[in-house]
Amino acid sequence: MVALALKGLGAKYGRHTVLSDVNTDIMAGGGMTAVIGPNAAGKSTLFKRISGLASGPGTVLLSDTLRGQETICYMPQDTGANAVLTVYESVLLASKQGSGWRVSDGELNEIDQTLKALRIEDLAFRGLGELSGGQRQLVSIAQALIRKPEVLLMDEPTSALDLFRQIEVLSFMKALAAKSGMSVLIALHDLNHALRYCENTIVIADGAMAASGPTNDVITADMLREVYRVEARVEACSLGKAIVIVDHSIV
Ligand SMILES: Nc1ncnc2c1ncn2[C@@H]1O[C@H](COP(=O)(O)OP(=O)(O)OP(=O)(O)O)[C@@H](O)[C@H]1O
Ligand SMILES: [Mg+2]
Repeated sequence: MVALALKGLGAKYGRHTVLSDVNTDIMAGGGMTAVIGPNAAGKSTLFKRISGLASGPGTVLLSDTLRGQETICYMPQDTGANAVLTVYESVLLASKQGSGWRVSDGELNEIDQTLKALRIEDLAFRGLGELSGGQRQLVSIAQALIRKPEVLLMDEPTSALDLFRQIEVLSFMKALAAKSGMSVLIALHDLNHALRYCENTIVIADGAMAASGPTNDVITADMLREVYRVEARVEACSLGKAIVIVDHSIV
């Protein structure tokens, strides 16, 4: 099982620093950590920095010996489609990234299982360019999962999905993380999803870390006021679980 910690992490685009000094405790594999914060706060930049797509100071610590970039997989927010490929080909291509071109029956079986798990097996031989936005997002998730990373960075993976698919994907990811020992960091705008599916939460605001820790401790009315500029309540729902209710924006 992998464990991950971020120490003094920052990121720059050219000479422009957009993220600085992100520090976390050790995040043990087997669970999901939410990364939340307003638009342009630096969530995607944090993921790019962790996966090596952006440069900057600080260190990404992994518990076991680093086995190359395959260990960390970044699923981007904008899932630009290569319209020439079918769904099946695109997932096969993702599985082959960083390895040879031979394809075993076992690998083809894994692709079938992954498409089935996400209920997109019917789309296997459709062209990526013919899919709906939500269908494309599910294919991106399949492409990330087929690589079996130890650290999976998912940038708003449910933003294009309907209610059924949102909770299905998040429950599936949580169960998969627990089963495989993978560490999943997941950027989310729906804070109720963070409360329901993520043990820990990192808050990014204005290019810095505003808070981090157990989700129930981090998502508070004070944090929502300061970071999101909304007046909100964090209350227990009829099942006794914490839920965010937003009353109004603060201008
Ligand atoms: N390639 C780039 N070059 C220069 N600046 C960039 C680049 N990508 C992002 N930025 C800037 O860096 C800042 C952080 O952007 P980032 O994409 O990390 O935000 P975010 O928290 O993911 O926002 P959102 O919730 O809208 O996805 C923003 O001010 C953005 O304009
Ligand atoms: Mg983003």
